[in-house]
Parts: sequence; C-alpha cells; structure tokens
Amino acid sequence: MHALIVFAHPEPKSFNGALKDAAIAALEGAGHTVALSDLYAMEFKAVADGGDFPQRTDAARLDYAGEQTAAHEGNSVAPDIAAEQAKLSAADLVIFQFPLWWYSVPAMLKGWLERVLSAGFAYGAGRLFDQAGLSGTRALLSFTTNGQESSYTEDGWHGPISDTLTPLHQGLRFVGFEPLKPFIAWNVHRCAAEERTAMIAAVTDRMAGIAQETPIPYPPMAAYDRRGLLIDPGD
Ligand SMILES: Cc1cc2nc3c(=O)[nH]c(=O)nc-3n(C[C@H](O)[C@H](O)[C@H](O)COP(=O)(O)O)c2cc1C
Repeated sequence: MHALIVFAHPEPKSFNGALKDAAIAALEGAGHTVALSDLYAMEFKAVADGGDFPQRTDAARLDYAGEQTAAHEGNSVAPDIAAEQAKLSAADLVIFQFPLWWYSVPAMLKGWLERVLSAGFAYGAGRLFDQAGLSGTRALLSFTTNGQESSYTEDGWHGPISDTLTPLHQGLRFVGFEPLKPFIAWNVHRCAAEERTAMIAAVTDRMAGIAQETPIPYPPMAAYDRRGLLIDPGD
C-alpha cells in the first residue's frame, strides 16, 4: 500500500509532529511506502484565488471552479497543485494529520482541500461521491484536540464530535474518498505525559493494521434519485 500524509501543523516539534513521525515509522515498518506533504514546511499557498490560473479563460470575472475545470482540461494546472494531485493519484490511503482548529482543519489544510481537490480532477461532469475522481482511495482524519472526549458528546459543551466531522467527511466523500474511522488524540495539552505516550503507541498500532481496515459504510450514489434523495425501497 502507498500512503500520502498531508501534515498541517506549523511546528515540527508539536504533538501532531510526533504523531506524524510515528505514523510514518509504523507504516514503513509494516512494508508500506509513504509520501509526505508537510504544508507549512512547503509554504503551500493556502488561498484559492485567480493567481492559481496561469492561463485564465475569462480575465474579466473569476469563476474559480470553471477555471479549475478549464485548467485540468487544458493541461495548465498550476505546478504546486499538479504536484499534489500527482501524489494523490499515486496514493491508496491519504492521512490528514492536523490539530482541530475552530472545530475544523487549520486554514492551511482548508486551502489545500479547496485548491487540490479541484473541479475536473476530483469531481465534476456528473462525477460525484463514489463515482468521483478519488474513488477507491481511503482517507483518515487524524487529529488532536484541546477538549476532552466527554466534552465532544451529546451532552458535552462542544456537542458530538460526529457533528464536527460531518462537513469534513462529506467533503472527502464528495470527491470519492472512503473515510476510515478517525484517529482522535483528545485533550493533548492537559493530559498526563503517559497518556500522550499511549496515544503515540495507539497510532503506531493503528497504522500497522490500517491496510486491513474497512471504511465507514455509506449508501452508494446508486441508492439516491436525481433529487439527491435516498430511493425508498418500497417505491
Ligand atoms: C486557532 C486555534 C483554534 C483551536 N480550536 C480548537 C477547537 O475548536 N477545539 C479544540 O478542542 N481545540 C482547539 N484548539 C486547540 C488545539 O486543537 C490544540 O492546541 C492542538 O490540538 C494541540 O496539538 P499540538 O500540541 O500538536 O499543537 C485550537 C487551537 C488554536 C491555536
């Protein structure tokens, strides 16, 4: 198996950095190959704007997704985006390693999603969800929080973690990714040092067997009608 780790943390010595290093070691130890996109180290451009299109088809008004499609079809995708897309095409599994910031991914990673999972390459022309460009590629959200696990439940002040994750998993699914159960390192600042050691051991264990994991089940596109509604089996 070939994995791509998309790492979004500005500090290599962070706990996220330690989780990323442990994941690489465990994957390689299990005989897998690993590519890394260290977005801050790469100084990845995280803002989706007109500068992404060296050959604009409409200079008067920016239609971002339209220009993405035209660039894909015209083979004029910006080099930094094309390089990430080539890494994606080669990957069987993509691991996103990040700290939970504002109940989401850091802006750096959000920008990567917006620019790299582009119209034309990743979705479009009727290619959505399990029929989209990344279908068959598994994805793992691996992230850290400051909140405790108990605070990310129905009665917790942050609400259920599943609510936080829905837009991220939906975005991944929209372009064909098959999400695995997330890896969550809770409360990493205030927990005991032994708990952080246990989290590193847990990510190591998880990576050793990740090639055998089954993605979270979702209904396939064929289960929906043209309005985007689940087809009632009684109809
Ligand atoms: C801008 C910012 C936003 C944050 N938002 C959240 C949040 O929504 N939920 C949460 O549990 N922690 C939040 N945190 C805390 C981080 O998740 C926490 O510092 C990080 O997971 C720790 O990992 P690290 O030591 O590798 O940085 C936020 C921190 C920052 C700097």
